[in-house]
Amino acid sequence: MKIFNSIEDIKRYIKTLNGTIGFVPTMGALHNGHLSLINRSKEECDFTIVSIFVNPTQFLPGEDLDKYPKKELADKKICELSGVDALFMPTNETIYNAIEPLILAPSQKAYILEGLNRPGHFDGVLRVVLKLFNIISPTKAYFGKKDAQQLYLIQNMVSSLFLHVEIVPCEIVRDYDGLALSSRNAYLSQSEREEALNISKSLKLASKAMMKGELDFSKLREIMRENMKNLHVEYIEAVDREFNKIEKITLKNSIILVAARVGKTRLIDNLWV
Ligand code: PAF
Repeated sequence: MKIFNSIEDIKRYIKTLNGTIGFVPTMGALHNGHLSLINRSKEECDFTIVSIFVNPTQFLPGEDLDKYPKKELADKKICELSGVDALFMPTNETIYNAIEPLILAPSQKAYILEGLNRPGHFDGVLRVVLKLFNIISPTKAYFGKKDAQQLYLIQNMVSSLFLHVEIVPCEIVRDYDGLALSSRNAYLSQSEREEALNISKSLKLASKAMMKGELDFSKLREIMRENMKNLHVEYIEAVDREFNKIEKITLKNSIILVAARVGKTRLIDNLWV
């Protein structure tokens, strides 16, 4: 596996590749969720490139940028063992320039839900993802459905800016107990982890209620809230696939989204209906 830090070097390498390129952008601290993206890319593309970059512009002041888990050695090993062709690990100075044009996420969709709680977060995400796409020029790029709003905004950026990349949404990967995999799960103590399980359990309860015919989201929200009493719930909402809030669930066109704090850790999860 080749490892690159500079844009010139990775671009030179990419020019030598003869085939399709699958790209998996990450912030490191890789887990099985990332692995599933890598595996999908390996199945579908001739070459797989992973980036590891803890992007400062998507963290708000006071968030966990400084303590975001870093596992460089383990990450390199995971990528190598899973057959990644190249790993791109740039520094902040490589990616950002003091004077540069800014891309802003569309405010109607980027300042609701996650963006309401983390204003400006998606501006930072789109800024870095666009830069990474321009460096790697991937054929396909792989993103998890757990970050549903991020996925929507990236798909929207690709279609509005006519970018030449296909976005591939990938299923949420859960731990044996149902907790959606996230690098931030590393912050949880054992007891916090137990509490955090109520997030995925509440989504399961909503799913059961829907199977019995309950499609009124205010009723589903009540069921979920009841099950997450011990958590600091930031939001429980339902949206359609265009990220418009909805009050009635429609099959194949709805996503139920949850964000909650467990101790100091903020977790998100969702259910694609
Ligand atoms: O989902 C993530 O890990 C990040 O938001 C991403 C897409 C790598 C951009 O920094």
